[in-house]
Amino acid sequence: MKFFIDTANLNDIKEAEALGILDGVTTNPSLMAKEKISGDKNVREHYKKICDITDGDVSAEVISTDFEGMRKEAEELVKIADNIVVKIPMIKDGVKALAWASSQGIRTNCTLVFSAGQAILAAKAGATYVSPFIGRIDDIGWDGMTLISDIAEIYAVQGFDTEILAASIRSGKHIVDAAKAGADVVTCGLSAIESLLNHPLTDNGLAKFLADHKKAAGL
Ligand code: E4P
Repeated sequence: MKFFIDTANLNDIKEAEALGILDGVTTNPSLMAKEKISGDKNVREHYKKICDITDGDVSAEVISTDFEGMRKEAEELVKIADNIVVKIPMIKDGVKALAWASSQGIRTNCTLVFSAGQAILAAKAGATYVSPFIGRIDDIGWDGMTLISDIAEIYAVQGFDTEILAASIRSGKHIVDAAKAGADVVTCGLSAIESLLNHPLTDNGLAKFLADHKKAAGL
């Protein structure tokens, strides 16, 4: 399973990259706004900075909601770097844009996916990645993880190549559950990735090892 970091914060991306386990980055307009990046030129320059940190896939989201606008944005975004993946929303013109991008060899991430039906459409349109938003489904009292296993089952039965990118992942438990449910990729913030490190028995065990080593050495 691949690990993407879901942020536009360059320090967090560098830190995840330094861990040696980073496979890519996802961003969205809200994450860009959080870093106070605005305007086409600044946004593209920021994507370039992200692509300079990692060779992994970097999802760059279109703002347009019509086919022509998405097509033009996609053509500009892929000029930034070879590892740019164009992020396209699951709407009618988005499906057209996914199919067009696929015919042009442009890699895509279909975002804002909340149902298995939407995931089927994304795969039919040739999306490279499909992004079901787990946390946001949980937020309305439904079960986000069931969507991952449903899509995994459908894609396996139908032989779709589209990779399942579990998005809106909020915790270490979400990461583990997504892995069990058949996600090909998880994307989340640095804190969720780092939470996987935590176990009190690891901390206690290490403290004891170090104490015993000191004692044996007479320190
Ligand atoms: C995915 O690509 C999205 O950027 C992201 O995972 C959304 O997560 P959120 O629900 O925490 O905003």
